[in-house]
Amino acid sequence: MTMPFQPAAFPYARPRRLRSQPWVRRLVAETTLTPADLIWPLIVHDGPEDRQPVASMPGVFRLSPKEAAKAAVEARDLGIPMVALFPNVNDSLKDAVGTAASDPDGLIPDCIRAIKDAAPEIGVMTDVALDCYTDHGHDGVLENGRIVNDPTLERLAEQAFIHAHAGADAVAPSDMMDGRVQAIREALEANGLSDTLIISYAAKYASAFYGPYRDAVGSSKSLTGDKKTYQMDFANAEEALREVAMDLSEGADALIVKPGLPYLDIVRLVSQTFKVPTFAYQVSGEYAMMQAAFANGWLDPDRAILESLHAFKRAGASGVISYFAPQAARMMG
Ligand code: PBG
Repeated sequence: MTMPFQPAAFPYARPRRLRSQPWVRRLVAETTLTPADLIWPLIVHDGPEDRQPVASMPGVFRLSPKEAAKAAVEARDLGIPMVALFPNVNDSLKDAVGTAASDPDGLIPDCIRAIKDAAPEIGVMTDVALDCYTDHGHDGVLENGRIVNDPTLERLAEQAFIHAHAGADAVAPSDMMDGRVQAIREALEANGLSDTLIISYAAKYASAFYGPYRDAVGSSKSLTGDKKTYQMDFANAEEALREVAMDLSEGADALIVKPGLPYLDIVRLVSQTFKVPTFAYQVSGEYAMMQAAFANGWLDPDRAILESLHAFKRAGASGVISYFAPQAARMMG
């Protein structure tokens, strides 16, 4: 960064003057974090229990549709604008092509309707990908050991339509197939759903930090191999710009960079280059790491949570998808 002026030298310049009191620190803060910056991811399930703990994510529960509706009411009361839904469906519903992903009476449509009944003013975003519904745990259709792109697009468009038709405000493709934003946008337009947002996981990396999530949604036990033929290589940054440009040209309204803290450079690059609403996802592994440190007394949650979320705002994110959302919103309140 080049300076537009030569700063004064010590002792005239004393940067500590602007840090000397809480009021002046507040006055000169370059970024703010409020509950309106947060999206709360909810893991929902079709099992008999109302709430089922997720071992690798202390404090996170798989919720029944009824409990998801209660969480949405809580989100609304905390000033959180949106929840994001991720499903754990019974293994008996899973097959090679993820048929259950586009069941109009499936778990996600049920949850959308329950949430919209209980808290209509809350935004609902859904994950568009097949991994939670396939018996092989991949986000696309598997043929002869390969994830096939174009046949997957039809499945994703159908899934997105079912979500939007059930009342989802935003669909968020997280599968990383080529051309999926266009396929989804066309399906929505063709069905009179032109107001549904597409918030695209445009830059999503093949990451070890998704581990606890795959336990939460029940895809880790079946996942064969890795997702490196469709999710991005963590060695790359320039490629994120091409992915984002493509998704915007296909009709995405907003973007997600995922994971979060290890990819702050990408959040910065994307938000500064495109100036389109960009969200960061503080993913399950980041959450689990921090919870493990809190449980051991190695980090102070009250300080570390807000600091980590603030980092995303500083990097240029419009907001953050975080499992800490309700806890953080309560700390702000
Ligand atoms: C895949 C999907 C993933 C997450 C949400 N949707 C990652 C993956 O399994 O590849 C990760 C979320 C998290 O780790 O918190 N459709």
